[in-house]
Amino acid sequence: MQKRKLTTGIAVAVAAIAFSVTAYADSHVKKLPDTLILVSNCFNCHGTNGVSVGIIDELDSMSAKRLAKKMREFRSGAKAGTIMTRIAKGYSDAEIDVIANYIEKVND
Ligand code: HEC
Repeated sequence: MQKRKLTTGIAVAVAAIAFSVTAYADSHVKKLPDTLILVSNCFNCHGTNGVSVGIIDELDSMSAKRLAKKMREFRSGAKAGTIMTRIAKGYSDAEIDVIANYIEKVND
């Protein structure tokens, strides 16, 4: 009987802690919008907000339509590349459009 009470007590305490941690995280941890999660990958190589700081092509100056077209061409293999042919395969049509529209507008 005693042991059962202790077990129940521990289970209630663990549940309470888990609930508090989740509630804290929900209210205090800043979540990135989905769009930023998608485009931040591109900025690793193409520079923050698509403004190139090196030899890798600038994306900022490209229209959304042109950027999306190139991504789809990399994905299908119609456009040759070293890394982009592999990266582009990771994105759906909808995600490509979200990325292209974000990059077109971000520095306006
Ligand atoms: C690991 C580095 C890297 C990442 C990450 C990366 N790119 Fe690229 N990107 C390149 C390189 C290098 C090229 C030149 C083509 C090639 O060699 O694949 C390029 C070329 C491009 C081009 C063609 C530019 C032109 O003027 O023709 C577009 C468009 C592009 N990338 C879009 C993106 C988008 C959108 C993302 C994010 C989803 C992205 N890239 C992520 C390295 C990268």
